[in-house]
Amino acid sequence: MSAKPDKVFARDKEWEALTRFAEAEPGHGTLGVVSGRRRQGKTFLTSALVEQVGGFFFAANDDTETVALRRFGEALALHVGGGAGGFHLPSWDQAIRQLYQLVPRGLIVIDEFPYLSRASPGLPSLLQIALDPRGAAHGTAAKLLLCGSAMSAMGDLLAGNAPLRGRASLELVVKPFDYLTAARFWSCENDPKLAVLLYSVVGGTPAYRRQFVGDDVPGSAEEFDAWIVRTVLNPTVPLFREARYLLAEEAELRDPALYHSVLSAIAAGNNTRGGIAGYLGRPSTHIGHPLVVLEDSQLITREEDAFAPAKSTYRICEPLIAFYEGVMRRSWSLLEQGLAEHAWRLSAERFRSQVVGPRFEEICRDFTMRNAPELFGDLPGRVASGVVPDPAGRTRIQIDVAVLSAFEPKKVLSLGEAKWGKVMGLRHLQRLRRARDLLAVKGFDTGDAKLVCYGGAGFDEELREAAGADPRVLLVGLERLYGR
Ligand SMILES: Nc1ncnc2c1ncn2[C@@H]1O[C@H](COP(=O)(O)OP(=O)(O)OP(=O)(O)O)[C@@H](O)[C@H]1O
Ligand SMILES: [Mg+2]
Repeated sequence: MSAKPDKVFARDKEWEALTRFAEAEPGHGTLGVVSGRRRQGKTFLTSALVEQVGGFFFAANDDTETVALRRFGEALALHVGGGAGGFHLPSWDQAIRQLYQLVPRGLIVIDEFPYLSRASPGLPSLLQIALDPRGAAHGTAAKLLLCGSAMSAMGDLLAGNAPLRGRASLELVVKPFDYLTAARFWSCENDPKLAVLLYSVVGGTPAYRRQFVGDDVPGSAEEFDAWIVRTVLNPTVPLFREARYLLAEEAELRDPALYHSVLSAIAAGNNTRGGIAGYLGRPSTHIGHPLVVLEDSQLITREEDAFAPAKSTYRICEPLIAFYEGVMRRSWSLLEQGLAEHAWRLSAERFRSQVVGPRFEEICRDFTMRNAPELFGDLPGRVASGVVPDPAGRTRIQIDVAVLSAFEPKKVLSLGEAKWGKVMGLRHLQRLRRARDLLAVKGFDTGDAKLVCYGGAGFDEELREAAGADPRVLLVGLERLYGR
């Protein structure tokens, strides 16, 4: 198998899947599909693969059919002849025939495929015909990889009764780096505080360390404020406009104001359907469509409540968008005037509560999902947040990290509270105990439940003592979250 080039960070599984596809014997899978949100490294990976194994790489653009065919003909001519000029390709039917004649082996990558299929809706059918036993690809050893980021379009490619359904032997989704890989990528795995702060802004999207900030990386948590002022809050740095661009790029988002409002509602913590509708001042039947579109584009996810699956909340997947909605959008005019430092000072509290807080909870859930067998001696079915109503005070206890068993859906393995900015104390543990008792009354099996405090700023003496005295209480600090 072709070795992964040094320039490709992590992505071992993705690389393995891609090389297995590209290097399989002829006849064993001729079509692969690579999708994933923007900036995750689809082009980077597939073009590195073409460099390794040989083949043809075409990056489509937002062109009309005629222009796309002309560019395709030029790219093919460049590929075989190395010079200028181009093949005259009057239709995609002929273009595909020409393609397989000129590239009979190796890898053919068509990047940004949704641009082509939007301008030429018949293209997937033509490809299906080409891949059929008597089609243009027959008898060749070439492998075709379709690549793209418009998530809805890529999903449609293989869905339902789409012509290419069931054809692909590789379906790879390139996802953002998880929080641990992101920390290594930003060279801050030894500084968990900085790692959480950075993850809350740039998440696990590889491009945001490279082209988007020109490899400007803060050296320590103390440098974070200065870094943020000179990069993401700086109108001359590409990352500044990226969140807006990401939304604008999603082809189906025709009413950006509406989508931004939905996202700001979620960012501000109004994350139920009713909460979002209330924030927008619209009936909740009117926000179904934007929610579906945002979910299909993987910009938001819907998460069921751990204890009441019928209730769900929405979260913003991409940290940069949550940062934009929670911090940048509100101070846009200050930022445009170059008053980033001022804007940043005014946003400190919102950054902590609306941006880092929720992202830290997500990190804790991810940590717990990975480590549940070791922590609780059982396999988790779900790790999610949940709400436990407390009839006594007519209040609700928010559980940030609830873990339910994979085998018995009502068995609670753990209840956890995550706090980023505050030292945790006994009162946090007491709330978890109260929630445990209330859940037991509601029929959950809480007999073995561990109570976990995830503390970004540490734990006070009393809480430490309590945890020392009770084996069912665990304290998880930053170092532990980062496996140190
Ligand atoms: N695994 C990686 N290791 C190092 N750098 C990476 C990696 N993946 C991506 N990058 C960096 O991120 C940049 C953006 O990646 P790329 O353009 O391939 O994303 P994409 O998924 O094709 O996005 P788009 O949908 O916007 O085209 C790359 O140019 C590279 O600098
Ligand atoms: Mg790309």
